[in-house]
Amino acid sequence: MNGLSREVIEGLHSPLARVVEVHEALASTQDRARELARAGTPDGTLVVAGVQTGGRGRLGRHWGSPAGGLWMSLVLRPEFGASLAPRITQTAAVGVAKALWEVGVETRIKWPNDLLANGKKVCGILAESSARHAGGPANNRRLDYAILGVGMNANLDPADLGVRDREITTIRSELGHDLDLLDLLRALLTNLAVEMGRIRDFGAVLDEWRNLNCTLGENVRVRRFGETVEGRAVDLTSEGALLLAAPQGTIEVFEGEIEHLAQGRDAESAP
Ligand code: BTN
Repeated sequence: MNGLSREVIEGLHSPLARVVEVHEALASTQDRARELARAGTPDGTLVVAGVQTGGRGRLGRHWGSPAGGLWMSLVLRPEFGASLAPRITQTAAVGVAKALWEVGVETRIKWPNDLLANGKKVCGILAESSARHAGGPANNRRLDYAILGVGMNANLDPADLGVRDREITTIRSELGHDLDLLDLLRALLTNLAVEMGRIRDFGAVLDEWRNLNCTLGENVRVRRFGETVEGRAVDLTSEGALLLAAPQGTIEVFEGEIEHLAQGRDAESAP
């Protein structure tokens, strides 16, 4: 499958890929990973598919996943409370962005975790988690598992993805050639392991996020609580929420999707 097999991936000796499943085709690696997590698979289980027939994106969207992409989900069992689970999404975005820079794709993070190359989406991240009560006070919940899905538009043309409503790109379009998916996976696993390993030091992760992002300084539009708000993205809170300076005051945006309204920022140098 695109040069990827269980044996070659296991040969990477990544702590995130101790158990590996490779499928020619699956409905969704996310769903298969969750099935394995519920059955007790250990931390560091990786599911990869050549094609997904029911790939899922954020906000319940369909995620087109034809041959040539890297469609994968990781089962993680971090030793921290459920309250830290929301950190996974931006921490993963930093790891994935660094991996893309390493393989030559100049990538920026659009809040919270879209990976853009030349302003177009090249990769999406979907973090889902399950918590359980850990005894004691009602709010004492442990993270049972998290499923981290990464959808990388790799060796494809944008037209292959069948997306009409958003600007998308692929690694092939950006680099002008295909990548060895094993090299890409190696870079992803290495960088994700480093960033996930320091998720408790979230201030440092968010500093990296700031270095890599393309949202701060932009005028953005966000739909929240049934209304549309516009403002200037000024910073993040200590837990990664987006702070907007809006006519009605400072607004914290915790989740959802934002729209960049203008290209206000000068391009920055590589991290
Ligand atoms: C987004 O909407 O930006 C997130 C997209 C995440 C897609 C990946 S592809 C691998 C994994 N399996 C899925 O069904 N979704 C995620």
